[in-house]
Amino acid sequence: PVIRREDYQAPDWLVPEVELAFALDPARTVVTARLTVTRNGSHDRPLKLDGEELELLALRVDGETREPRFEDGRLVVDLAGETAVVETEVAIAPEKNSQLMGLYASGGILCTQCEAEGFRRITFFPDRPDVLSRYRVRLEADRQRFPVLLANGNPVETGETADGRHSALWQDPFPKPCYLFAVVAGDLQCNADTFTTMSGREVELGIWVREADLPKTELAMQALKDSFAWDERTYGREYDLDRFNIVAVSDFNFGAMENKGLNIFNTRYVLADPETASDGDIDAVAAVVAHEYFHNWSGNRVTCRDWFQLSLKEGLTVFRDQGFSEDMGSEAVQRIDQVRTLRAAQFPEDAGPLAHPIRPDSYLEIANFYTATVYNKGAEVIRMMRTILGAEAYRKGTDLYFERHDGQAVTCEDFVRAMEEASGVDLTQFRLWYSQAGTPTVTARLEQDGGRTALYLKQHVPATPGQPDKQPMVIPLRVALIGAESGREVAPERLVLLRGAEQVEWFEGVDEPAFLSINRGFSAPVIVEAQRRPGEIEALAAGDTDSFARFEAGQELMTRDLLAAIRNGGAVEVEAIVAAVGATLRSQSLDPAFKADAIALPSESLLIEKLDAADPARVHEVREEVRRAIGTRLGEELRRAYTAASAADPASLSGADKGLRRLRAATLALIAAGDPALGASLGQQQYDAARTMTERQSALMVLAMLGPDAAGQALDDFYVRFEADPLVIDKWFAVQASVGSEGTLEVVEALQQHPAFTLANPNRLRALAGSFAGTPSAFHRADGKGYDWLAEVIVAADKLNPQTAARFVAPLGRWRKIEPGRAAKMRAALQRILAEPGLSKDVFELASKSLG
Ligand code: ARG
Ligand code: ZN
Repeated sequence: PVIRREDYQAPDWLVPEVELAFALDPARTVVTARLTVTRNGSHDRPLKLDGEELELLALRVDGETREPRFEDGRLVVDLAGETAVVETEVAIAPEKNSQLMGLYASGGILCTQCEAEGFRRITFFPDRPDVLSRYRVRLEADRQRFPVLLANGNPVETGETADGRHSALWQDPFPKPCYLFAVVAGDLQCNADTFTTMSGREVELGIWVREADLPKTELAMQALKDSFAWDERTYGREYDLDRFNIVAVSDFNFGAMENKGLNIFNTRYVLADPETASDGDIDAVAAVVAHEYFHNWSGNRVTCRDWFQLSLKEGLTVFRDQGFSEDMGSEAVQRIDQVRTLRAAQFPEDAGPLAHPIRPDSYLEIANFYTATVYNKGAEVIRMMRTILGAEAYRKGTDLYFERHDGQAVTCEDFVRAMEEASGVDLTQFRLWYSQAGTPTVTARLEQDGGRTALYLKQHVPATPGQPDKQPMVIPLRVALIGAESGREVAPERLVLLRGAEQVEWFEGVDEPAFLSINRGFSAPVIVEAQRRPGEIEALAAGDTDSFARFEAGQELMTRDLLAAIRNGGAVEVEAIVAAVGATLRSQSLDPAFKADAIALPSESLLIEKLDAADPARVHEVREEVRRAIGTRLGEELRRAYTAASAADPASLSGADKGLRRLRAATLALIAAGDPALGASLGQQQYDAARTMTERQSALMVLAMLGPDAAGQALDDFYVRFEADPLVIDKWFAVQASVGSEGTLEVVEALQQHPAFTLANPNRLRALAGSFAGTPSAFHRADGKGYDWLAEVIVAADKLNPQTAARFVAPLGRWRKIEPGRAAKMRAALQRILAEPGLSKDVFELASKSLG
């Protein structure tokens, strides 16, 4: 049944108090729940409790045993009074829980995941985010196997029970929705530290992992303390419990979870050291640690009324973790990364069959709406509000929001209203960003006539499924004009608010021909199509005064020439690209990280998105030809830059050293494109001498791209060297599955038979299937076998873990962008998925919407 936002109704019953007792056992855990329920408003409807895969052992109301009654899968309890105590006893089987939702076992650890609707797999409960309760949780388990027993909140007491079992009692003073509930039991070691908050309270910090992993928790701990301090400094937000625990588990459906006082993480976003994690992995650890910590206010203290409001907490929290990363590292480089992610993951979503607004109107399965749109476009929407209101008013707005709604379950509308009231700015039209899907296109044309300069702007919001007609949005564009001769800002940066379908912006006193620098810093998540004069984009790529816009100009130039060659089918015009890359490499003023970003060509996926009926083979061929041309024509410069970048200090994680390593990887890849033999020998040398995973992994990738002869030895070495480290073995799978060639499928099929491969572990599955499906020239084989393979994997994985299986459907849904021959095969693969009996809601929803 489709769930609709407009059908929201307040809960009939509230549950102010919850007492839970867990008799933990991987095979059979008994959960006893004691709910104090109160009638919400005056009505005579019964209490209805969600439950899934629960064996009900007992039901009591105010101490009296009741015969259970079920209706549409829910346990229905008739209650006469205004309040009652409802007790249930259920049995569950954590070790059989392959969905990884609810209570499950991961490598001998028992842990939980409840967001969005996993709590109903633990006990009967009104599983919705607007029912907030105070929890007391008693855990009891075998002391030997589960010496550590953790739950939300603060520890109250521990005890000894019969037969070598022990117990712990935890209490969380803050009312919370059940999706934030968590328990963990296992043989874990703790990296312990403390943080003193701005009001002087001392918080005990713990990162809990398997003993062998303890040395790899230092970076996460530093990030955690930095996050505590940053949120105090930047948002005035202080932590509120005596304890903050993080637990890392190997089997996890996504990155991490912000359970109150007890975050549970995918090991991938906790465990890191320079030898086994790349710089990118290390940055991701810090960003996810920050993200989950920031949820304590944006998500936990103030939570969502219903799941349609998911972006209320996720968009805001992503925006907050982006701010953290910008402050900890280089803002320009961070912004480029953010926009890259948005373009790679969100723009295609917005342009395809699964397009939805950041606040969706309906869903079949909410797990399918943890999307780049809700998260990343959601963050862009918050960023635009800050741009429009200014940093100071924005902060007043968040202060008001947190103060007014502390302890409540609220809506996106409540957030916007707080912003409006704190700033006095009317955000009526701005609200369209919450309701309209699709990436707006802005067309821009500069006209100069004497001293008068006019910028003609138009916007178009495309039709998306269920939304044929769109209204013009408010689009904040940071704009400056750069003198064509002087190179200086002849019109300094200003903020243009494009509100109408068409609008003209005037500039006075511009006394030379000017170039248009627009959407600087990516001030709005839109596609800009600017009419360019000859030489304009080249000039901006070489000298725009905004570094993000400069990067963008380079990308625009590359995209223009790549698309022209792909479309005309003939020779590739490489001069402008080679010149731009050469200038970047030679620049004395640009920093290495920026150079690395600027010399990278737009990805094949990005080019495919810009084409109609793309032939992925042609896209690959043209892009490779340009890479080859850069490699040969700029061999000298590339080698010089490569050698200079080798000076990076392997022990340092400073921005400068990370930047050098990034440039080293980018230049090595281009050297190899121009001269495979040289690439192979430099790659092997770099691999052998590598002191960091960044160097080792980038060398391995270059060797893998050069083919089995070049890569064989390094791949074997890599496996043996890191056999005991699952996160690194994930890389071994991912590197081989991301080689852009038609033969990759055979490699992937062989890897699927490898003893270390399993469909049951989401990280391993993503490493193989996600990498493969994300590599167009491998996935889009002309014979369609790549699609068939993915469809089979989805069907097989769906039987174990629907949420994770569903994540691989989207690549097949991109058929609208692909030439008809392949597109038909993609549709056939989707149809085969849909024909599978017993398909989950998760996969069904995405596969059927993808077919259209
Ligand atoms: N709230 C978590 C986070 O963003 C992610 C939960 C994802 N849940 C899901 N069903 N996909 O940090
Ligand atoms: Zn989140």
